[in-house]
Amino acid sequence: MRHLLSIADLDRPAIERILDRAKTFTEVSEREIKKVPALRGRRVLNLFYEASTRTRSSFELAAKSLSADVINFASSGSSVEKGESLKDTVQTMSAYRPDLIVIRSPHVGAAQLVAGWTPASVVNAGDGKHEHPTQALLDVYTLRERLGALDGASIWIVGDVLHSRVARSNIMAFTKLGAKVTVCGPPTLIPRAMETLGCEVEYTLDRLPEADVVYALRMQKERMTDSFVPSIREYAAQYQINGRRLGARQVLMHPGPVNRGVELSAEVIDSPQAVIGQQVAAGVVVRMAVLYELLAGRSAPQPAVTPAPVSA
Ligand code: NCD
Repeated sequence: MRHLLSIADLDRPAIERILDRAKTFTEVSEREIKKVPALRGRRVLNLFYEASTRTRSSFELAAKSLSADVINFASSGSSVEKGESLKDTVQTMSAYRPDLIVIRSPHVGAAQLVAGWTPASVVNAGDGKHEHPTQALLDVYTLRERLGALDGASIWIVGDVLHSRVARSNIMAFTKLGAKVTVCGPPTLIPRAMETLGCEVEYTLDRLPEADVVYALRMQKERMTDSFVPSIREYAAQYQINGRRLGARQVLMHPGPVNRGVELSAEVIDSPQAVIGQQVAAGVVVRMAVLYELLAGRSAPQPAVTPAPVSA
């Protein structure tokens, strides 16, 4: 495997191999010296064109825990603000000969494009509302830890499915591992033909008690061009996961960042059913496993044939 652009790139055995490897890395995170030399001398470039707390910090920690060197690039404060394009930026940064580029972009298909412009391996850390494969892997990892296996589990994904790259990647990953997925939200926030992804669709929470796992999503206001719900208050009244709606045996997940009081009430965030903190912790070991999968045993890429442009 050279790149990780989509969950579609992985079959069930490949997902399980990454998760098993991630599990072996938990031992590293528990040591006093949280570092192994597996990727010593390799270069990882974090290229983030969108806000990120968890994803960027965990990729950095994952790379450093494997002894790789990391360059963090955020579009704000860079020459992107002077008008440099994504392609020119990637080619400029390729002059540093990174072995792997982690890219987050507001544009669908950006990671795929980057993969065509660099000899490095590319990991998609979120491209617009399209995909976020490492989030799906860490969520599957967290659930395996909690449930043992996903086979036969009923997972409800509730909220703004329309604008969510997490929903798309997670539906694919959960179903590949044998779970039954239902998406739920207001009709304006559920894409048409959602069933083609292999999930069921509900527009009310009436059947939520049937779920083993409740996965709540944030309203992705930054991707909304219209008003999709009458008001946040009305949305919360119908779709908020709160103490009244969440059953004692149900597992609660959220990719973060949470808008407290909108998709989740404060009481459920801090409840024993919530595994939100475990998801964040899993982000490090799962991303270590992804970096290892793509880089260990692979020789360093040759420099690009195209000469790098002079940056502004
Ligand atoms: C998500 C994202 O950026 O896609 N967050 C994350 O990576 N943990 C979800 C979100 O922003 O709501």
